[in-house]
Amino acid sequence: MTIVEWIKAFVHDISVGIVVTDAAIERPGPIILYANPAFGQLVGRDPVEIVGQSPRFMQGKETRRETLDAFHRTLSSGERFHGYVTNYRGNGAKYRAQIDCRPLRDAEGGIQAFISFEREVVRRVGRPAGSSGGRYGPSSISNDLLPGALRDLGVFAATASE
Ligand SMILES: Cc1cc2nc3c(=O)[nH]c(=O)nc-3n(C[C@H](O)[C@H](O)[C@H](O)COP(=O)(O)O)c2cc1C
Repeated sequence: MTIVEWIKAFVHDISVGIVVTDAAIERPGPIILYANPAFGQLVGRDPVEIVGQSPRFMQGKETRRETLDAFHRTLSSGERFHGYVTNYRGNGAKYRAQIDCRPLRDAEGGIQAFISFEREVVRRVGRPAGSSGGRYGPSSISNDLLPGALRDLGVFAATASE
């Protein structure tokens, strides 16, 4: 069984968007190896058709370059990237995604792939960054509805547990 088949078996039916890429950070990588149906719904594309592409296809005019630079730096240093990115659906509609992207390591510590947990969020009116609960709230799947195993991993939490 490959790592991708193994992941698919467990996350295919989860309602959190999940996308797995290879470990190549530099263009044309990272290349999508698998996306679950919830990810297809989030980005408004057929999850099978985006396999082989880089996640950059979701980016557009209002995607902040500073955020992408931070994303790139964090992946290069082998750490978890947790942040909010403006992306675009297949039909051009803009949305805000909360992204929790982590390296998948082999037993020797080498990075084999990346896995990203993603959901749509909406701006909370009148809440500055740093106030309790943050500036954005989930619009699709709330923390209460996260599968327990993902909560244990600290998915979407300010600080990951691993
Ligand atoms: C598993 C994974 C999922 C990603 N998902 C997204 C995404 O949903 N939206 C996005 O704009 N970038 C996403 N990225 C980030 C881009 O692929 C890329 O790393 C980013 O644009 C920074 O690199 P660049 O400066 O070379 O473009 C993802 C990366 C990985 C590894």
